[in-house]
Amino acid sequence: MSVTDRPTILMCPPDYFSVDYVINPWMAGNEGQLDCDRAYEQWRTLRDALAAVADIELLEPQPDLPDLVFTANAGFVAGNRVVPSHFMPQERRPEEAYLKGWFAAQGFDLCILPDDIGFEGAGDCLIDRAGPWLWTGFGFRTEIEAHALLADWFEREVVSIRLVDSRFYHIDTCLCPLSGGYLLYYPDAFDADSIAAIEARVPPEKRLAVSAGDAANLACNAVNVDAHVFAHQFSAALQSRLADAGFTLHDVRLSEFLKAGGSAKCLTLRLTEPEVAAG
Ligand code: ARG
Repeated sequence: MSVTDRPTILMCPPDYFSVDYVINPWMAGNEGQLDCDRAYEQWRTLRDALAAVADIELLEPQPDLPDLVFTANAGFVAGNRVVPSHFMPQERRPEEAYLKGWFAAQGFDLCILPDDIGFEGAGDCLIDRAGPWLWTGFGFRTEIEAHALLADWFEREVVSIRLVDSRFYHIDTCLCPLSGGYLLYYPDAFDADSIAAIEARVPPEKRLAVSAGDAANLACNAVNVDAHVFAHQFSAALQSRLADAGFTLHDVRLSEFLKAGGSAKCLTLRLTEPEVAAG
């Protein structure tokens, strides 16, 4: 397994995190139900665990932006370019100006989407760690029209994956490329063409399909840095499959964030991503 330079990961402290509205099925019934102290404690545990393998950069939390904590949705970054998100739900649109300003202040080149195309950043666009392509989701929170622009801006093949289960509304909730070309994924979240696209690129011995039980714990919403995988509560069966594939698992409880439809990966954005395709 190749070892990358220590990555920089963007996180946002959950000072204003809450479930104020319902824009995915996980949030239904959880309005006002969060234990804020527990959320803070869980977030800190994730940050500290990641700090062992990555440099953590912090985004200043903002009042009235309860989902800003999910920095995966800030934008998609590769090299010095970023495509800031243009959110589908109106509820998250107030994040956009703040995020664009932050990326610009950090010196990124901004690729701005036309106003009629929805795209939710690294939540729906994942860099494969072995092949020269991007896994891009569509169907709920990103429109397929965004995919052609991504292919153009980043000069990479874009593998469009149709999401069909509203619980797995971003591709990072049901698919996670791992080092060495492994792929953690939940096949029932995709249509048949998308499964075929996955199977055409990932050989059987590198496919780690998760069970419905693990998928329901957002197992695919994992953070991978080299041989390390950080996630909320994998089953014993999944743990041993990952161990057999050479990964070290770090179990981080993130139950308060699952109430909003997010887990480890959603709470992070890798700011140091290669400009050129891997593989
Ligand atoms: N409540 C947030 C939303 O629905 C959760 C975002 C999770 N992020 C992710 N990358 N899957 O937008």
